[in-house]
Amino acid sequence: MVELAYLAAGVLFIVGLKGLTSPKTARRGIRIAALGMFLAIVVVVVNLLGLDASYAWGVVVGGVVVGGSIGAFLAIRVRMTEMPQLVAAFNGFGGGASALVAAATVVGANAVLPAETAIVTALSLGIGTVTLTGSFVAFGKLQGLISGRQVFLPGGAATNGVIALAIVVAAGVGVVAESSTAYWVAFGLAAILGVTAVLPIGGADMPVVISLLNSLSGIAAAMAGFIINNQALIVGGALVGAAGMILTIEMAVAMNRSIASILFTQFGGGATAEDIGTKPVNRATADDVAIALAYAESVMIVPGYGLAVAQAQHAVKDLANALEERGIKVTYAIHPVAGRMPGHMNVLLAESDVSYDLLLDLEQANPRFSQTDVVLIVGANDVVNPSAKNDPTSPIYGMPILNVDDAKTTIVIKRSLSPGFAGIDNPLFYEDSTLMYFADAKKALEDALVAINLL
Ligand code: TAP
Repeated sequence: MVELAYLAAGVLFIVGLKGLTSPKTARRGIRIAALGMFLAIVVVVVNLLGLDASYAWGVVVGGVVVGGSIGAFLAIRVRMTEMPQLVAAFNGFGGGASALVAAATVVGANAVLPAETAIVTALSLGIGTVTLTGSFVAFGKLQGLISGRQVFLPGGAATNGVIALAIVVAAGVGVVAESSTAYWVAFGLAAILGVTAVLPIGGADMPVVISLLNSLSGIAAAMAGFIINNQALIVGGALVGAAGMILTIEMAVAMNRSIASILFTQFGGGATAEDIGTKPVNRATADDVAIALAYAESVMIVPGYGLAVAQAQHAVKDLANALEERGIKVTYAIHPVAGRMPGHMNVLLAESDVSYDLLLDLEQANPRFSQTDVVLIVGANDVVNPSAKNDPTSPIYGMPILNVDDAKTTIVIKRSLSPGFAGIDNPLFYEDSTLMYFADAKKALEDALVAINLL
């Protein structure tokens, strides 16, 4: 019965994951996967009760209640813009939990383990610990507790290579010589590697790193599943490991960078505050924007991180409604890394009931810009930076961007000429066909709507 229930949980995870492949089915997918997790937890608890009625129930129930309450509280309270940090923290806890399972196994058996258990224990301990400390460094960077910029470590990537090798050696000694000390050395070195591997990585690459850590947390969990012989943990961990790895590769492709270059080379930097804002721009008012939009035949809206900060998703939909009422064709171009997490813009626009059919991805949007009258950029910056195409010295050179400069007129809504996440200037802002509408995105869109209604 227990094995069957774990199998059912595994099937629910897979069906749930399948649901996440489309925004239309994503909510249902999450609920199905959550049901699978609930089933797995119930089975673990009931199974323990059957095995040993004297079990420390207070600890088990207390853990479920405290952990569940913290999870529910965070899920309700977290703002969309803070979601990457939350995911980073969850990955860290996941890796830490797997490392704890491994550590408990080492302590319980005093490191005397059958070879196959010893190997998965060493893997779970090493990978789980790297994930734990690496994820909390990523959390600190995104939360602004640690500098988001690159931190240069002595020896760079070579130092990390040496530490990684030392972990493999120490864990190997732990397995072969059945030495607790060697396991703890591997544990300590893995804790250091998590920090030294993530610290040098710049903020703009952080989503890829978080996705990679997510994948590692899944692999560590699958290893922990082998240690305690729990099928649901093996299946769930393998799914997270594989899905996280696919997402990591997809994001790296969207930024035109290899995973190795993200992990081992430096990125970001570029313009300083003094470079930016010294050149003239075409400033626009709400009335200018209203006229440009109201007399267009087609408008493409490009949302970015600023849309999320301003919580302007409803304001953008109201403006789009007004334009559609005037017979103007409105679509949305969504860059794969716009905002601060995968699918960030899709989630926000879904909240304001924008139809999924109007959302164009990078490949669909780019050929259409040249036939678009007005592109309205709402709080986006890096994802529309032409330096990625034109300037081989730019740190984002080679990243596929939305070719908004192909459109007849481009309107940019942002509060100032401040750079975006990559910290670099954007030549688009200084082009003749670009109108800069400096304001908070929500206020700007609301004012433009008032002005359109007066026309
Ligand atoms: P960014 O390049 O970060 O630019 C966002 C712009 O929004 C800023 O220049 C800012 O300018 C403006 N802004 C901020 N608050 C605003 C408000 N209240 N109203 C109006 N504008 C506001 O955003 P993007 O174009 O979406 O690019 C995303 C970047 O983040 C990429 O570099 C990407 O690699 C990185 N990243 C992506 C992810 C994922 S997976 N999506 C995760 C982490 C990082 P002002 O200050 O002048 O207003």
